[in-house]
Amino acid sequence: MITKKTVKDIELRDKRVIMRVDFNVPMKEGAVQDDTRIRAALPTINHVLEQAPRYLILMSHLGDPKKDAAKAKENAEKAGKEFDEQKFLDGKCRMKPVAEYLAGLLGRPVKLAPSAIGPEVASMVSALGPAEVLMLENTRFHREETSKDPAEREKMAKELAAFADVYINDAFGTAHRAHASTETIARFVPVAVAGFLMEKEVRYLGQTVSSPQKPFVLVLGGAKVSSKIGVITNLLNKVDAILIGGGMAYTFLKARGLPVGRSMVETEMIPTAAEILKKAAEAKVEIFLPEDHIAVPEFSNEAMIHAIPKDSFPDDLMGVDIGAKTLAEYKDVLSRAKTVIWNGPMGVFEMPNFATGTKEIAKALAEIDAITVVGGGDSVSALKQTGLESKMTHVSTGGGASLEFLELGHLPGIDALNDK
Ligand code: 3PG
Repeated sequence: MITKKTVKDIELRDKRVIMRVDFNVPMKEGAVQDDTRIRAALPTINHVLEQAPRYLILMSHLGDPKKDAAKAKENAEKAGKEFDEQKFLDGKCRMKPVAEYLAGLLGRPVKLAPSAIGPEVASMVSALGPAEVLMLENTRFHREETSKDPAEREKMAKELAAFADVYINDAFGTAHRAHASTETIARFVPVAVAGFLMEKEVRYLGQTVSSPQKPFVLVLGGAKVSSKIGVITNLLNKVDAILIGGGMAYTFLKARGLPVGRSMVETEMIPTAAEILKKAAEAKVEIFLPEDHIAVPEFSNEAMIHAIPKDSFPDDLMGVDIGAKTLAEYKDVLSRAKTVIWNGPMGVFEMPNFATGTKEIAKALAEIDAITVVGGGDSVSALKQTGLESKMTHVSTGGGASLEFLELGHLPGIDALNDK
């Protein structure tokens, strides 16, 4: 249960409301590619508007302008292409298409501010009519948003807070960041509460971990062991089994002394993986590792596929998906589970020939009679490809945030809100 106040606990009529959303959605040439996060914020936005507020200001980040542009520039230079920074930022990091998209969903105009703070925004805000909606420009265009210097963050947070009587945080996906608009602002507004999405995420992720129906199975995949250590450590004494796939499986197999060919291994994490295997054995938690693999000689969807058993991994091949025997075993474990948390794909699912393991795990979760919670950007995109999202109990809108919440049980953006 969320111990923080939510939008249901407060008066919104005639209030100046500012709401942090996570509209960090995939963009291509200035068009929204996936509207899940926008739709997920609609219940809170609609609720606020139904209460006749003085106005509603929405704010979000969209990518990371400085970092993303630098990376795109580097890639363009490598490819010998010209790089137009403004064009890049317009297509990837500006809120205009998101505001227009939201206006379509809401069926009412959404005004757009030229930046997130500054005199021009302040005069736009004061000119807003009753219950009008204004979207601020990407908060990360301002260095202060993510600054490590608290004084800088406070400066921006205070400017944003000056627009509002009530701050609502519905940006679960960004709640693991202690940024000006996600955390610091809460200290400078009279009221700071959670939105419905935030409440729902905390309810599902929190309850699943605190009172799971047994057997409780954790399915972990993705490239790196390092990003999943915290979750494994926190859940090791709560789960009955952990099924491991994806790139991270090879570091674990290496730790067990098995051959992995040219598969991706985080060499520095081998001792940690060995330690986890030891702790799991002591806690009587079964850790399942792949029994067989789909492996290829080069990293390409068209590469010649080899199905290989775990003990005889050829030196010149690399693993890209779990094999049929592994899949059968994982499905068998899942068929008996009553609670499942899934984070991370089982293979290189972006390449259709190596997506079978991930898609089959999604299907297995859709079929079982259990609480199924899916988190993490990649497993959620894989799930979307299968069209099975509605068969899950809860699909988190958070990638890093859901992992950190599973690891720590709290996040800075939630901690900063008012207690009930
Ligand atoms: C996400 O996409 O996971 C959130 O929007 C957070 O984005 P960030 O990792 O750039 O902070």
